[in-house]
Amino acid sequence: MTATARAVTLLALATLAATLPGQAPGKVLPLAADFSAAEPGEALPGGATTHSRPADENAFSWPAANMPPERELDFKVGNGFFRRLWVSAPASTGSADGLGPLYNARSCQHCHLKDGRGHPPNGPDDNAVSMLLRLSIPASPGQPAEASPFTPEPTYGAQLQDFSIQGQRAEGRIAIHYEPVVVEMADGTRVELRAPRYAIADPGYGPLHPQLMISPRIAPQMIGLGLLEAIADADLNALADPDDRTGDGISGRVNRVWSRAQGQWVIGRFGAKASAPSIDEQVQSAFNGDIGISTPLFPSAVGDCTPRQPACLAAPHGNSPGPGGLEAGETVTRLVAFYSRNLAVPARRDADDPAVLRGKRIFYTLGCAACHHPGFETRRDSIGAEQSAQRIWPYTDLLLHDMGEGLADHRPVAGASGREWRTAPLWGIGLVPVVNGHSYYLHDGRARNLTEAILWHGGEAERQQQAFTRLERGDRDHLIRFLESL
Ligand code: HEC
Ligand code: HEC
Repeated sequence: MTATARAVTLLALATLAATLPGQAPGKVLPLAADFSAAEPGEALPGGATTHSRPADENAFSWPAANMPPERELDFKVGNGFFRRLWVSAPASTGSADGLGPLYNARSCQHCHLKDGRGHPPNGPDDNAVSMLLRLSIPASPGQPAEASPFTPEPTYGAQLQDFSIQGQRAEGRIAIHYEPVVVEMADGTRVELRAPRYAIADPGYGPLHPQLMISPRIAPQMIGLGLLEAIADADLNALADPDDRTGDGISGRVNRVWSRAQGQWVIGRFGAKASAPSIDEQVQSAFNGDIGISTPLFPSAVGDCTPRQPACLAAPHGNSPGPGGLEAGETVTRLVAFYSRNLAVPARRDADDPAVLRGKRIFYTLGCAACHHPGFETRRDSIGAEQSAQRIWPYTDLLLHDMGEGLADHRPVAGASGREWRTAPLWGIGLVPVVNGHSYYLHDGRARNLTEAILWHGGEAERQQQAFTRLERGDRDHLIRFLESL
């Protein structure tokens, strides 16, 4: 494009944007109708951000492929802070202190292993670092909703910190017990699922509240997040069907959450219940809740300590004048958010393979695409230029769905009930075993493979789950092949 043509286009875009209130529009891409070949662009699920590097253990760690070289330094520095091991204050390295006093891990990377996902402990001797338990109690009447999307446990706070700095007491350990649940397929194949029961062992600060609600989560993979942030609100609202007017048994809802940064209610997108409004707010709350680091939006230097933990409140902190009187100031949090926004989705493998295409057709026929909505075009005014106006295939509607009693945690967050979960994006899912060396799926990693993940679907997805159990073996294999190609 010549400079003049470019200027004219920009002017036209600016005029158009000026006539529209709020965000520039994006698009909900229609469902596929032809399964004889891959859709145009489908092999690059993140549009121009997609990387085509080897599908090896580093597959989740590359920057957006369309990132201009001058921004790559910010990505690298952001990566450094994502991996940084925080130490307790005071330390000679003043800029990396402030850990805890209570914490879940010393770095982001300890949970988001290789920018991929965490896992539940592999037996009684393994640790639970990359998993956490969120805690709350029912809200008391009249409590202002903006204060928090839930009411923290009065002594232990918003999550169980299973580590502490020297001289402090950790809050306890996650104890998991699995019970077998057998599902029989129509062809007689038996699959044994494991139903988890969670408890808190060795509570460090006395008994927990009698109405305690807990929700276990494994750290999710970090790819494509900026693209999910760049889907227009209007497109999520268009997919939502809260009263199931389409009568298909599926009633997706947007979660509405309070944004500290914007000071208003917005659509939630991140976290297993879509309770975080933006990457920046999720990143800052992770610094604070998971590592115990103060940030501009979450300025408490003692992280998740409560007034009932006086020793924790009195511990030295790492706030320093450099980062604006905080432990991680605006520069650090901005760079980590930049990094988190720009981790690229890998290219599909075998999108054109006949077996994969057959599996894709089954995915559609069973009705999986009703929640795992395949494609969007992102807004052209998204936060990152890399993510603007891209055709993407995340396979999620980012909406909340009642997933039935089996998956329920009975712990509401903002507008999400104790049975609702956000549709998980499926891009990159086939590379989890390559990147993380395991195939644990769902919000708490209870599924040990993709078949188990599908069999746990219930509630609004019960019909699809039932249809899956009626497939012939060959068709089940094709469906799994398709998921593995994502
Ligand atoms: C103790 C483990 C742990 C640590 C440490 C941790 N995270 Fe997370 N992270 C999680 C879990 C668990 C979730 C899912 C949260 C939920 O469902 O509410 C998550 C979610 C996220 C998400 C949203 C992803 C999505 O798909 O919605 C981002 C972004 C993120 N973390 C970034 C970070 C950053 C940046 C850091 C370091 C400052 C960090 N995390 C530290 C466990 C961790
Ligand atoms: C009613 C909406 C809905 C339908 C229909 C649906 N899903 Fe899901 N799916 C979800 C939600 C919500 C989650 C996250 C659940 C959780 O983490 O507990 C999920 C999770 C998954 C996961 C695990 C993802 C991960 O990252 O761990 C896979 C795989 C999956 N779905 C495949 C399918 C397939 C295949 C079908 C069709 C047979 C299907 N889903 C139908 C809503 C749906």
